[in-house]
Amino acid sequence: MEPLTGRPLAERIAGQSQWYHSMELLPGVVTPGWFDTRPLVAALPFPASLEGKRCLDVGTFDGFWAFEMERRGAAEVVAVDVLDPKAWDWPVASTPDSVAAIGERKAEGEGFELAKAALGSAVTRHEVSVYDLDPGDLGAFDFVYIGSLLLHLQNPVRGLERVRAVCRGTLLAVDAIDPTLSRIFRRRPVAHLDARGRPWWWKPNVAGLRRMVEAAGFTVLEAPRRVRIKRGAGRTAPPLTPRTLRHRAGREALASHWLGDAHAAVLARPT
Ligand SMILES: C[S@@+](CC[C@H](N)C(=O)[O-])C[C@H]1O[C@@H](n2cnc3c(N)ncnc32)[C@H](O)[C@@H]1O
Repeated sequence: MEPLTGRPLAERIAGQSQWYHSMELLPGVVTPGWFDTRPLVAALPFPASLEGKRCLDVGTFDGFWAFEMERRGAAEVVAVDVLDPKAWDWPVASTPDSVAAIGERKAEGEGFELAKAALGSAVTRHEVSVYDLDPGDLGAFDFVYIGSLLLHLQNPVRGLERVRAVCRGTLLAVDAIDPTLSRIFRRRPVAHLDARGRPWWWKPNVAGLRRMVEAAGFTVLEAPRRVRIKRGAGRTAPPLTPRTLRHRAGREALASHWLGDAHAAVLARPT
């Protein structure tokens, strides 16, 4: 990554073509994110104030949620991420092209560094996998946010168990759910397994996401909320062709683009 003392920040931000999060980093300059999570904040049980709290954002990408915690008065915000997509959980049949495409968007985590500099933020980012979270290394946290990451884990419950190991307060887990399974099975926890060449593993129904959190040793504090995450300006619409409509993945991509990506939010505390 080019040192931040080089080209002017505004030029660097404008030059970064791929962003995950839509964030206003300079007056009137909003990054063209893959998702726009800004309207989501109000729909979540996200604490209005985090005054004096130690907070953790797991799988931060460009850092939107970590910066939001800081904006709400957190005493300290730590973010963790795995910057090299090769180290993510990939199904065996994945191709080098898929890994490279995600690597391009990730850009070695440069978006986070640019956003941190533009916002004058004190958030610290550590390269630590969720599976390796350890209170001996990072300490314990009063509030932990984990968003759109369980979907990418081969073992989401193991990941949540490690989150529990560093959580001494509240967890907010917001992750992808399968809307069809959520409609059919309202109480029974079930999940769709993808694992076809891309780092998409388990998409549970809402009851399944809740059960994953409980199975990892948390007590759920309120009924999970269904939310949809809106697309950002960095995304183009999937083609509306008979082929797209024929396949489940194609239909899901269309729904995600036009309606928002189906997620549920689970608020919990360690049992
Ligand atoms: C889909 S993005 C979600 C970004 C952000 N958490 C949000 O909710 O908007 C998934 C993030 O998880 C990170 N990631 C992937 N595998 C991880 C792992 N094993 N441990 C921690 N982070 C991981 C990726 O690098 C990426 O930043």
